[in-house]
Amino acid sequence: MSADLHERRMTAVPRGVGHATAIYAKRAKNAEIWGEDGRRYIDFASGIAVVNTGHLHPRVVAAVEEQLKAFSHACFQVTPYETYVRLAERLNAIAPVPRPAKTILLSTGAEAVENAVKIARAYTGRPGVVSFSGGFHGRTLMGMALTGKVVPYKKGFGPFPPEVYNVVFPNTYHGVSSEQSLAALGGLFRYTADPSSIAAIFIEPVQGEGGFYIAPFDFLRALRELCDQHGILLIADEIQTGFARTGKMFGLDHAGIKADVVTMAKSLAGGFPLSAVTGRADVMDAANPGGLGGTYAGSPIACAAAHAVLDVIEDEKLCERANAIGKIILDRCNALKDRSNLNCVGDVRGLGAMCAIELVKDTKSGEPAPQLTQALMKIANEKGLILLSCGTYGNVIRFLVPLTASDELVRDGMDIFEASLTEAVSRAA
Ligand SMILES: Cc1ncc(COP(=O)(O)O)c(C=O)c1O
Repeated sequence: MSADLHERRMTAVPRGVGHATAIYAKRAKNAEIWGEDGRRYIDFASGIAVVNTGHLHPRVVAAVEEQLKAFSHACFQVTPYETYVRLAERLNAIAPVPRPAKTILLSTGAEAVENAVKIARAYTGRPGVVSFSGGFHGRTLMGMALTGKVVPYKKGFGPFPPEVYNVVFPNTYHGVSSEQSLAALGGLFRYTADPSSIAAIFIEPVQGEGGFYIAPFDFLRALRELCDQHGILLIADEIQTGFARTGKMFGLDHAGIKADVVTMAKSLAGGFPLSAVTGRADVMDAANPGGLGGTYAGSPIACAAAHAVLDVIEDEKLCERANAIGKIILDRCNALKDRSNLNCVGDVRGLGAMCAIELVKDTKSGEPAPQLTQALMKIANEKGLILLSCGTYGNVIRFLVPLTASDELVRDGMDIFEASLTEAVSRAA
């Protein structure tokens, strides 16, 4: 059934829409997905970090059902509703930004990024925006411009909006220190663009698509100081790192600093399309009335889901669960790193349950192993596990297990992962 569907998909849907698996979802519950092929899969992808609270959490389902009895759409700009206002209040209280804060709700991550740029430009009156190599900020024109990876995200899609500058991310595993990254920023300001023309610097506290590289906390603090020095807004893109994934509510919380503006999406609404931009109230109020919004922005269904998600994160202590799940994954991955017969684990890293294993052709050369990564993903699918890759070289497996998964299920998934990696290595030999 899935093979047939896959053929139909390849005929009906453009090839530009990627496919990590050929598994077609029929139903899902918590951390498991059942495919059209009748098989059950353990989900280590969470729909790309969207269901931190699991598929169809009963409280999310109940909240959505309740909202559906009332109304499904009204458009917040026409006949506003309390749930949007209350969600803004809740995000204002928890986002890593100074108070007082304000929030706008939207639908997708890319839309949040677009709006953050608009707001930063309106507030500062400056055009420039800075982002980092390996960063990912979405597939709209501004999202692409900010994104620091050419293939597949930018190639053939230009020209991009001007006044966007990309500097090297402090990626210690690949030989870039915090000092070198700060020097690159200094160089940008010296040779290319005066800091007084820069509205904002965008950074993911842990790069998502880019390869799960953790921005060093001292680097984030230095960035904060640099922004303050030049009147530049610091914008944390927490679209993938947010909502307990890293073991704290937001990735930036680990560094003990605040951004001026934060973008959020993905796990905010447990599977319903919702994104948010939360920031300093004075910054957020810079745009003219009518300049922000959207027909579906802050859908009441998604708002209802988001309230349930925030309750579940707190009541089920999902930050603690993220740390516990992350420990299981990292311990297993580190054991694989120590297994000399594998000789393909270049690096193991993680913050909370945002964990990754970077695969190499051999540990001596450290050369990326994208084919091995692809083979591993396929074998894992055959054995009943859904995995996702990422990274500039496509050689990183990122673990995005729902934070509501039991230890037992995580261990079962890691057993399959280990068996799949062993098989992929022996097939490649
Ligand atoms: C850090 C980050 N920013 C922005 C986006 C774009 O979000 P969306 O796909 O919802 O537009 C993503 C999506 O993966 C992301 O991880």
